Amino acid sequence: MMQTFLRDVHDGLSADPKTLPSRYFYDKKGDALFVEIMALDEYYLTSAELEIFSKKTAALAEALGVSKDKPFELAELGAGDGKKTKHLLRYLCDDGYDFAYVPIDISQNALDGLACSLSAEMPSLRIKPLQGDYFDVLTQLKTSDAPKVVLFLGSNIGNMPDARASRFARELSKTLTEGDRFLLGVDLIKDASVVLPAYDDGEGVTKAFNLNLLERINRELGGNFDITLFEHVVTYTKAEGIVRSYLRSKVDQTVTIAENGESYDFKAGESIHTEISRKYDDKLIGEIFADTPFSLKQKLTDANGYFADYIFVKG
Ligand code: AVI
Repeated sequence: MMQTFLRDVHDGLSADPKTLPSRYFYDKKGDALFVEIMALDEYYLTSAELEIFSKKTAALAEALGVSKDKPFELAELGAGDGKKTKHLLRYLCDDGYDFAYVPIDISQNALDGLACSLSAEMPSLRIKPLQGDYFDVLTQLKTSDAPKVVLFLGSNIGNMPDARASRFARELSKTLTEGDRFLLGVDLIKDASVVLPAYDDGEGVTKAFNLNLLERINRELGGNFDITLFEHVVTYTKAEGIVRSYLRSKVDQTVTIAENGESYDFKAGESIHTEISRKYDDKLIGEIFADTPFSLKQKLTDANGYFADYIFVKG
């Protein structure tokens, strides 16, 4: 793992323009900062999708196309604390559906916490937590012939470029059988006045989240980044629909990494691109899913029209 991190950091800081992969945000400190981000007023994504799950639960359950006569598996990629999903799980349990909930996460810790709170809150729910890489785990699930529904919430797909999102959907479809469904939660394109504060909040939590990437390099790879010499910069235009996050050097400086003995020069004003957060509309979703075996069944949004859950069927 450390060798991969070191190689990715070296490649990214040697590139022109400089980049660092956003997946390295999520160490222990980054996970905790992301939980704080999700609770921010400015970060509307969480409350908008929670509104769909809490207020449109019956419509959501219907869109999943499951039947009370046939047991099914409800898998969730990157389940986290399950706050939104619990509304759906409670509805399905109370309404007499026969299903197992399969939260899938890379973090065993997150899965343990979720399984513990679910068994206290919904003792009748069957839970089969699975730890590991999404596709490895889904491939294992394929061995059962129960119909499947896969949830991928929180606009997590938005951190992938569109071509990778299409590949992700194609890979996912290989783990499913015809008739299985996929529910994808995505942030919708809207004005910059709403989107930009979500990625540059007043309390500076998102700034700390972005800068943690440099602190992680210091902690794990012996870097000597002075984080006070970098600023958090975010761009977005409604016409393009992509938030881009950067760390911009305030001065000319050289940073070294002890683990590989390399130095990296920064000019004043030079940026490291750290993340994209894609926003979507129906046309983009149509293009991304065009070359996949999924067809769109339903779309549910919150009252503001900020966020959408798209439900697809395979085949
Ligand atoms: C995880 N992902 C969907 C978040 C997003 O909105 O792109 C990560 C994030 N980055 C800054 N704030 C939140």
